[in-house]
Amino acid sequence: MDFNSLETPYYHYDLALLRRTLDEVKRCTKNNPEFHVHYAVKANFNPRILQTIAAAGLGADCVSGGEVSAAAAAGIPSEKIVFAGVGKSDSEIITALRTGISCFNVESRPELENISELAAKEGVTARVAFRINPNIDAHTHAKITTGLSENKFGLAPEDLLPAIRRAQELPSIEYAGLHFHIGSQIQDLKVYVTLCHYINNLLNELEAAGIATPSVNVGGGLGIDYVHPKENPIPPFEKYFNIFRHELRLPAGCQLHFELGRSIVGQCGTLIARTLYVKEGRSRKFVIVDAGFTDLIRPAMYGSHHFTENLTAATRPEATLQPYDVVGPICESSDVFSRDELLPPTLRGDLIAFRSAGAYGEAMASCYNCRPLPKSYFSE
Ligand code: LLP
Repeated sequence: MDFNSLETPYYHYDLALLRRTLDEVKRCTKNNPEFHVHYAVKANFNPRILQTIAAAGLGADCVSGGEVSAAAAAGIPSEKIVFAGVGKSDSEIITALRTGISCFNVESRPELENISELAAKEGVTARVAFRINPNIDAHTHAKITTGLSENKFGLAPEDLLPAIRRAQELPSIEYAGLHFHIGSQIQDLKVYVTLCHYINNLLNELEAAGIATPSVNVGGGLGIDYVHPKENPIPPFEKYFNIFRHELRLPAGCQLHFELGRSIVGQCGTLIARTLYVKEGRSRKFVIVDAGFTDLIRPAMYGSHHFTENLTAATRPEATLQPYDVVGPICESSDVFSRDELLPPTLRGDLIAFRSAGAYGEAMASCYNCRPLPKSYFSE
């Protein structure tokens, strides 16, 4: 495929890297049959990506009825699908019940009652795990921290026991265990040690109360290297899984679930844009590209930086790097990919690559300004 001739902007996915990443996840978990990895579909629901992940045998973590259907359509077996989220609508719950998913990660008492009623009407039993808000700081960006008590997620720990007792009473509910997710793009892996110790204490308390815990789900959040994507294309899965292997004390037979999104798909995707104009402002030089925050919102929304390369200039003789503000065409001043990005002298028509865009890139694209959604292309 001649990527240079494709209409920009588009996402390019390196499926070989995705498969290598999946192989590493499998290698690191193969000796622990009680470990179950679910891919967090929200990171990227492109059908080719989902099919590749399904073929590797991972389950799915979904946060909407649409994601449940997308995961099932991609071939992920229903018994490997879990469904989380603070605001599941009736129709989404019914979709999930009819799909026969393995577990609802329930975040409030009213949600439990509602799932129970809907399951009774459908004539099925819903398995539910309770999401606990452990009030642990994941030391990541404020907008993607989820485990603090000020966040909307999960049950307060003191509400857990009554919720479990209620679940055990309800005829259409089966109590499946505990769920956690403390944040995303976690780079300081020590926070997972804190989480494990927290879970150990909670498991002891539940045991003392006579409650058996069939499963624990520790969520996702493992970060990727946005600064050196080429040197570190595969995240530190070994280190990550070892923490749970060594720090968690699970009761016999308890299953351990993971929900990894970014770490699986982040590095395999690149957003490719074309330089429309190079504009010399009074104080700054702008590279104006044809991709904007409608294609990749992370810089505008979280102040994230994606490793940026001028692919066309790489074919010209080497020249001194210059600082450019790399911006998109959207009519908002937040439509900036980076400021003072050091690039070789850049010309109209040059292709610009934004790396590490496989997670929360295409999945968060929008049609703002009546712009079409970016297309996607794949290499094997
Ligand atoms: N499980 C639950 C319950 C979650 O809410 C999330 C992500 C995950 C798993 C997967 O987390 P991961 O392994 O991908 O970190 N749009 C933001 C990230 C939002 C994450 C939301 N929840 C970004 O672009 O950085």
